[in-house]
Amino acid sequence: MQKSISIAVLLVQAAQALVLKDGVGKLPALGWNTWNAFGCNINETNILTAANQIVKLGLKDAGYEYVNIDDCWAVKSGRDNVTGQIIPDPTKFPSGIIGVANQVHALGLKVGIYGSAGTETCGGYPAQIGHEYLDAATFAAWGIDYFKYDNCYVPANWTDEYVACVPDQWQTYGPYINGTCKASSSDAPPGYNWATSNTANRYAIMRDALLAQNRTILYSLCEWGQADVEVWGNATGSSWRMSGDITPWWARVAEIMNENSFLLNSVNFWGHNDADMLEIGNGNLTLAESRSHFAFWAAMKSPLIIGTNLATLPSTHVDILKNKYLLAFSQDKVHGAPATPYKWGTNPDWTFNATNPAEYWSGQSTGGILALALNTLDTPAEREIKWDEVPHLTPGGKAFMVTDVWTGKSLGCVKRGIKTLVQSHDTIGYMIGEKCSHK
Ligand SMILES: *[C@@H]1O[C@H](CO)[C@@H](O)[C@H](O)[C@H]1NC(C)=O
Ligand SMILES: *[C@@H]1O[C@H](CO)[C@@H](O)[C@H](O)[C@H]1NC(C)=O
Ligand SMILES: *[C@@H]1O[C@H](CO)[C@@H](O)[C@H](O)[C@H]1NC(C)=O
Ligand SMILES: *[C@@H]1O[C@H](CO)[C@@H](O)[C@H](O)[C@H]1NC(C)=O
Ligand SMILES: *[C@@H]1O[C@H](CO)[C@@H](O)[C@H](O)[C@H]1NC(C)=O
Ligand SMILES: *[C@@H]1O[C@H](CO)[C@@H](O)[C@H](O)[C@H]1NC(C)=O
Ligand SMILES: *[C@@H]1O[C@H](CO)[C@@H](O)[C@H](O)[C@H]1NC(C)=O
Ligand SMILES: *[C@@H]1O[C@H](CO)[C@@H](O)[C@H](O)[C@H]1NC(C)=O
Repeated sequence: MQKSISIAVLLVQAAQALVLKDGVGKLPALGWNTWNAFGCNINETNILTAANQIVKLGLKDAGYEYVNIDDCWAVKSGRDNVTGQIIPDPTKFPSGIIGVANQVHALGLKVGIYGSAGTETCGGYPAQIGHEYLDAATFAAWGIDYFKYDNCYVPANWTDEYVACVPDQWQTYGPYINGTCKASSSDAPPGYNWATSNTANRYAIMRDALLAQNRTILYSLCEWGQADVEVWGNATGSSWRMSGDITPWWARVAEIMNENSFLLNSVNFWGHNDADMLEIGNGNLTLAESRSHFAFWAAMKSPLIIGTNLATLPSTHVDILKNKYLLAFSQDKVHGAPATPYKWGTNPDWTFNATNPAEYWSGQSTGGILALALNTLDTPAEREIKWDEVPHLTPGGKAFMVTDVWTGKSLGCVKRGIKTLVQSHDTIGYMIGEKCSHK
């Protein structure tokens, strides 16, 4: 009896998952967004420049497809008082959002837009709560393919009864114990179903509004990991942020990676933890840090949304974004699960630590087993990937065919494992293939 009940529950949950047409949302989204590069300083010109750069730099051929307009695209003072629609800022967008969308589509790319499940967007522009169906219809009419839904200016009657702790927001939202909060701590009574929370409901209304349109619109939740979104995200959107905003320096990249490393059970086909948009090209990230940022965002199967000015991005960084082994892992059509840590390295296994997250990771893919080793220390250090520690490798295998994911070079048949000096905050990565016999 107990068994048949749990099977029924599983079937209901699977049926509720958001599965869109044409495979949209099945794999982590690949694209570009205005925010990390330009903030509110956006217009038709810099968006179309980015779209053209995506084509010119070979990023489109590598799989990047979404060109996403973030906050500050609308007239701030209010909606059209006849139609009730949000009005695109005519100075920033002389051809309207529809004009930009047409030009982006003409390049063979898709276009995204931004809103908030509150009364205003984070920048203070008109937002969706109470206008979900009208706005979804407007976005569909403009040709929008991707909608990012932020979490600012939530009206008082829509806040949640309880709080589930997001580690990077404990100071603001609690609950916390002596200055730290565990990935899953909450003040809700045991067994409370977060799928019934006001936050889950706010995001479900917009899902239904988007689904009511005659257009496939990928739905990207941006509620900062609150209200235990990992529980209901798969039924609501194609991806959901699991943390507060990223910033372009290593400490924050490592902090988000640490948080997400404890939440990866909720990632598979059709539903992905969003570790936030990429900062490669921004702030003070070194080349080594940029490599690690990209490798782990791809390995965790986060959406990969570029957030830099592509007109000035050095080719070293473009090459990271185009890494074919990591993109193939992210976009694998057969294996939906992300890579996960198999050993923490610097810290004991399962240590929750913002500065020194898990260092040794592996995951299964069509191209082989991806193994990564990160040096979280501030100085160079040796890291060793030992075949007999890596999950998924053929048990008893003593030697395997190995390709370095950064150089693309085959290392041939490698016995036992690989030990090498790794720069501070850099990551070594290998695609491990067939068993072989070492001569
Ligand atoms: C668009 O914004 C950029 C800054 O990001 C600015 O340099 C440019 O003049 C603007 N173009 C128009 C047409 O407003
Ligand atoms: C409608 O909006 C326009 C422009 O924002 C404004 O000039 C006009 O007074 C408004 N009309 C009404 C009836 O509110
Ligand atoms: C909050 O108030 C609005 C406006 O009255 C209403 O439409 C909405 O249903 C309320 N939200 C909740 C959770 O009751
Ligand atoms: C918090 O820290 C204080 C002082 O170190 C300790 O006495 C207390 O037991 C801690 N509380 C919890 C819930 O860990
Ligand atoms: C939906 O859109 C397609 C093409 O965009 C069109 O062929 C179809 O008739 C539309 N369906 C409805 C119900 O409007
Ligand atoms: C999310 O839903 C999809 C579609 O039903 C399913 O394939 C996937 O396994 C679900 N993800 C998780 C982590 O259960
Ligand atoms: C990078 O910038 C952040 C924020 O300004 C700062 O805290 C950090 O020390 C900087 N890191 C380096 C290596 O300069
Ligand atoms: C995180 O791990 C490092 C390395 O072991 C350690 O030095 C640091 O104290 C840890 N941080 C916390 C907050 O425990």
